[in-house]
Amino acid sequence: MMTGNCCMQFINKNKYSVLAISYGHEANASIMINGKIVASAAEERFTKKKCQMGYPKNAINFCLKYAGIKSNNLDVIAIVSKNDLMEQNLVNRIDSFTIKDFLSEQYDYWKPKIYQKKNIDYLKIFKHKINLKQDFDFTDYLKKRNYIRNQNDAIKIFKKMRVDTVHKHLKLKDLSQIQHIEHEKGHQYYALFAGPEIYRKKCLVLTNEGMGDKSNLSVSIVKNSKLKEVYYSKKNKIGTLYKFITLMLGMKPSQHEFKVMGLAPYASDYETKKAYNSAFKNLFVAKAYGIFLKKKPPDFYFHFKEKLKHCRFDGIAGGLQLVVEETLINWIKNCIKKSKINSVLISGGVAQNIKAAIPISNLKDIKRFYMNPSSGDSTLSVGGCYYVSSKISGLKLKKMDNIYLGPDFTNEYIEKALIKFLKLNKQYSFQRIKNNKKISEYLSKGKVFGRFYGRMELGQRALGNRSIIADPRKTEIVKIINSKIKFRDFWMPFTPSILDKYQNKYLVNKKKLSCPYMTMAFNTTKYFQKIAPATIHPADLTTRPQILEKKHNEKYYDLINEFGKITGVYCLLNTSLNLHGYPMVCSPEDALFTLKNSGLDGLILQDYLVLKKSK
Ligand SMILES: [Fe+2]
Repeated sequence: MMTGNCCMQFINKNKYSVLAISYGHEANASIMINGKIVASAAEERFTKKKCQMGYPKNAINFCLKYAGIKSNNLDVIAIVSKNDLMEQNLVNRIDSFTIKDFLSEQYDYWKPKIYQKKNIDYLKIFKHKINLKQDFDFTDYLKKRNYIRNQNDAIKIFKKMRVDTVHKHLKLKDLSQIQHIEHEKGHQYYALFAGPEIYRKKCLVLTNEGMGDKSNLSVSIVKNSKLKEVYYSKKNKIGTLYKFITLMLGMKPSQHEFKVMGLAPYASDYETKKAYNSAFKNLFVAKAYGIFLKKKPPDFYFHFKEKLKHCRFDGIAGGLQLVVEETLINWIKNCIKKSKINSVLISGGVAQNIKAAIPISNLKDIKRFYMNPSSGDSTLSVGGCYYVSSKISGLKLKKMDNIYLGPDFTNEYIEKALIKFLKLNKQYSFQRIKNNKKISEYLSKGKVFGRFYGRMELGQRALGNRSIIADPRKTEIVKIINSKIKFRDFWMPFTPSILDKYQNKYLVNKKKLSCPYMTMAFNTTKYFQKIAPATIHPADLTTRPQILEKKHNEKYYDLINEFGKITGVYCLLNTSLNLHGYPMVCSPEDALFTLKNSGLDGLILQDYLVLKKSK
């Protein structure tokens, strides 16, 4: 049986469905019906394993069930990414590796390989990590691997294995529905079609990441919704550098880069410059559409470790952020100059550097600038749906109206879960909530609540439906939340949800850039610093807001409005609802588990408020 790229012209362009799947880190699935994303979720939310890699079986099942469609009725099943590495999947590298494992990868695999030219067997080092209990059937590969000639053959075998897995899981009659899509297309089409339509007329779509199928940087020109890639390159190493410095600072690469970014503003100019001058100055050069290394280092871990050995941890984060911002700015300026287009969309892992968004958006050459939420690999399947749909039905696709695209639960289901929970946990009581007034009063008196409501958010940011919310007026609340949800990184700031009508009063946003999903940092006004200090980065006084429009989440909007009526502050502190080391909650049971195992004062569980009984 053949997989097909063949029959898209025969699909009814007014009535069609696409399922897209991404396997890499943060495995995810999305479904699109007639040009509209109907459901999307990451596998980690169902398995409770943060950054789950591999086949997103549960996410696929959810998407199909939510859309009410049978797998054999799907017009296209798109597998995003062609060249994934088999061995990393076999050991579930991203979700199963500890920091010790990542270090062992450097010391036991890369160091002897690069510096002593030794032939090292990756799977021998990580024998204890091999996971055969996956949906992918690796047994045959393991038997044959000594005879596999090269990386390309291994990639081909893995590609076939993924098709077989889809075939088996979805009980497909034939494989003509399945097609592979290039990784980069996932990022590009997500950037272009999921966000504001104003960019479709004419814009630049830039991708910048650790590694895709063929590149880690690309430049595309969009005219009347038609995207044309004009440049791509593998020579950009910003993502790679960020990854290895993250490891050097004792954090997990490909997961904790945002923590390094959060640490950077704490560094003094002296420490920042010291690290910058020691290792990062003149490292990159932006030329035409590309970013290049001025001089290629022998590796990205040991080389920089040596160069930075006399630098302080915060200075390293600061120096890194400085070189990243400097390089991205030069690159974007070049792209604008060369293309003569000043509306810019950016996507890929490096685009998640929300701090860099401030100097980028301040560039006088830039007119419009936007980043979609979670523009790393956790939204590849959304981009995959858009790519396929653009081929089926042309370019008039519906933008993503909202990012509440995950599972929801009926009140009946929630009541049952609640009753079961209360039978076993007598220290809690519950009441039905008629409006948000009561909750706002509790919050204004310093209570910290979880909020579980409606559909789960797409991506890593909690946007009110799977959030912890609190009063932002006093910084003491930061300590209180940190003590309630243990082991949170002490230097990481909290973020606010702000009602859109107050954004001018609270944020410095001269170009009126849209930021509904916490994708960019902004400088704050003196007034906001006074009224909501708990949501501001203490070192640089920036904030990463969710600027909430009523149409995006009416109930949450109303809650913040009620809170504003009591306090005069139309903003709530908002952080994700999860325990340390767990992904964000998905189901009512997860939310109740989090309530029980944290010090939260209560949980808004859709139309109920669950409270800890006072002793
Ligand atoms: Fe990517």
